[in-house]
Amino acid sequence: MTQTLDLIPYPVQVELTEGTGLAVPENESLPCEESLTQDLGLPEHGYRLLVNASGAQLQSPDATGLFHGQQTLRQLVNQARRGDGTVPALEITDYPRFPWRGAHLDVCRHFFSLETVKAFIDRMALHKLNVFHWHLTEDQGWRLEIKKYPKLTEIGAWRKGADGQPYGGFYTQDQAREVVAYAAERHITVIPEIEIPGHAVATLAAYPELGCTGKPIEVETTWGIFDDVYCPGKESVFRFFEDVLSEVLEIFPSTYIHIGGDECPKTRWKTCPKCQDRIKTEGLADEEALQSYTIHRVEQFLLEHHRKLIGWDEILEGGLAPQATVMSWRGTEGGIAAASAGHDVIMTPNSHCYLDHKQIDDPAETICRPEDVCTLQHCYTYEPVPDDLQSDQAKHVLGSQANVWTEYIRNPEELDYALFPRLSALSEIFWSEKPDGSRDFNNFLQRLQGHCQLLTAENISYCAKDLNL
Ligand code: ACM
Ligand code: ZN
Repeated sequence: MTQTLDLIPYPVQVELTEGTGLAVPENESLPCEESLTQDLGLPEHGYRLLVNASGAQLQSPDATGLFHGQQTLRQLVNQARRGDGTVPALEITDYPRFPWRGAHLDVCRHFFSLETVKAFIDRMALHKLNVFHWHLTEDQGWRLEIKKYPKLTEIGAWRKGADGQPYGGFYTQDQAREVVAYAAERHITVIPEIEIPGHAVATLAAYPELGCTGKPIEVETTWGIFDDVYCPGKESVFRFFEDVLSEVLEIFPSTYIHIGGDECPKTRWKTCPKCQDRIKTEGLADEEALQSYTIHRVEQFLLEHHRKLIGWDEILEGGLAPQATVMSWRGTEGGIAAASAGHDVIMTPNSHCYLDHKQIDDPAETICRPEDVCTLQHCYTYEPVPDDLQSDQAKHVLGSQANVWTEYIRNPEELDYALFPRLSALSEIFWSEKPDGSRDFNNFLQRLQGHCQLLTAENISYCAKDLNL
């Protein structure tokens, strides 16, 4: 039999078996017998799916594996409904390549409603992605209610919009808990990101005393990297970090907490008497070391609370915190350096994993970042484990992640357009073992034809240009 199964990500092993297959009921879900079984010889979160004329049966060592199998069955049922109404007789054995299969969403440059955040999580679940990295604080808006610092959302969540009206929004702690629960039902962990020590303008608009100059500033209205950052010369700033993180830890049960660490100019620190004092009294070499000192202290706080710190690859500069996990975004070098030093890493190089970059090389394309292009095929050729790593270092690559920054992405429709179909491609890179030789892009495109019909049926729009659909 040569039937193509439009499965994305494609399972580890698919065998079409003898028999007529299973007729799918028209307007109801397909009954499926589920049983948790430990002795399948399957890795964690794997599953086995058997379909024949008498029914569908799903087995897994754990509930997450069953959930993954349900997503596969959902895709098979959708394909059956588009075709002759039957799922072919088959046996699928499947399990993930990486434990970390992430998708990141910036809700700060543009704000996205609770409903859109849940829809983003639904899209992840369909593709067997399991880590939602929620980027919650930025120069252009602070998006999470913090009870001890109410001005973070009274002032910091709002900026002057292009039309002169306030633009912004935030999530209450109850809403954030709702997102955590919604994700957990879909076997997805939410990792919050609270940016330290840079990208802090919205905080400083609310509490200027946390910066070096103490001067009042406004929430940023444009994109970029800004000199006004937290002042690590002040103890009150560390108290602020700990107070905020204490509330964050109450909301988010994730083992990992992302503390940003990227793009922090040292301009203010160079002329700030308190920062210079700190450098002297702590015996630090320079301002890079002051950033490292800051991240070390935050890591210490998180470790005391039984959590682990993740930061963007700039946290390597000035010396990595002892147990930090590094998210490598400026290419792969940061990830290679961290893994070589025995630290865990998540690979999210902007060359392949930034879905805010344009997916078609067309000047008329305005939804995504104008200066960078990352095509569907380019995403599909991505390999998360760099060749430079030896096998004992490669095991530090926990996985990989797609990142969506939203400077140019303003609403749910534009978000879907940026995500798809590239997120579908990356989901396969994150889930499926690298085959011998290269991945077959044409085979992926063939399956994508059907997968895009599933996306349409689920009201998920996508960029159809260059797909010949
Ligand atoms: C980043 O893209 N600034 C992590
Ligand atoms: Zn300072």
